[in-house]
Amino acid sequence: MVSVEFLKELPKCEHHLHLEGTLEPDLLFPLAERNHITLPQTFPQTVTELNEKYKSFRDLQDFLDYYYIGTNVLIKEEDFFDLAWAYFQKVHKQGLVHAEVFYDPQSHTSRGVTIETVTLGFQRACAKAQSELGISSKLIMCLLRHIEPEECLQTVKDAKKFIEDGTISGLGLDSAERPFPPNLFIECYETAKSYNKDLQLTAHAGEEGSAQFVADALDLLNVTRIDHGINSIHDAELIQRLASEQIMLTVCPLSNVKLQVVKSVKELPLQEFLDNNVPFSLNSDDPAYFGGYILDNYIQVSKDFPDWNYGTWGRIAKNAINGSWCDSKRKHEL
Ligand code: ADE
Ligand code: ZN
Repeated sequence: MVSVEFLKELPKCEHHLHLEGTLEPDLLFPLAERNHITLPQTFPQTVTELNEKYKSFRDLQDFLDYYYIGTNVLIKEEDFFDLAWAYFQKVHKQGLVHAEVFYDPQSHTSRGVTIETVTLGFQRACAKAQSELGISSKLIMCLLRHIEPEECLQTVKDAKKFIEDGTISGLGLDSAERPFPPNLFIECYETAKSYNKDLQLTAHAGEEGSAQFVADALDLLNVTRIDHGINSIHDAELIQRLASEQIMLTVCPLSNVKLQVVKSVKELPLQEFLDNNVPFSLNSDDPAYFGGYILDNYIQVSKDFPDWNYGTWGRIAKNAINGSWCDSKRKHEL
């Protein structure tokens, strides 16, 4: 097994992190107080109680119910900045060099917080991470798939200026997967892409959903990356395609265990992906909820795949750099 020190020093890229999912209980409660937000009676009322709840979730929906309540404490641009800046400071110590991060404007605009407030707060933290910590980053706006497609299309239109000027580098799709297949969002993806041909496209697929959702995201939404994607393993033809088109899967090991997608990290088809030349990166998804940031995910995988040597880890780090959306000059630096 490789050493923790080696994993820490390895230049790491994050491709699957929800900024709202970095809201630690010890920031959530102070923000609630600062913004005079009363949390629902059914929601844990102390840091200890909330940490206790975060120890286990029944499934994706059980987690999302808490996650969306948590977002209610984020109101002002400063709140979004503070949240993202706290994240960057944490992962800087874990050897993170590049981050492509998700955010969900709709979980804020539905409460009257403007898309400008959210986007500019996060963007300011990204700029500070670059100038003070040397971490490069990209913002990926996600659409919440449980929201009506027409409303999602309006969100895309509301984000037009940020897509045109490159503040938003990518479009993603998240929230409850199974009842909301990719085909519902074709127009959203086409419209967003029409605003900027350089907009990158990705989507959550194959987390709780089937391999067919992965194929549909590729065929119908024209994504070039898949978030999670672990259920692709059930379709041999799809595995061949992911390898030949070099579609990267952004795998989230600790998340998959916490949301009971798998019983243990050992069950993830990571060795099969390596054997079949399917590129993947290791990511943290919603670290405040799932018990670990990027290095914690790397360490857990190294424990559960003890045969992987320094060469294997070098290959994983290289695949993560290659699959990033930064330009070739930055890739070379990484
Ligand atoms: N939103 C935040 N985390 C998510 C996940 N793991 N799957 C779908 N939507 C999410
Ligand atoms: Zn996710």
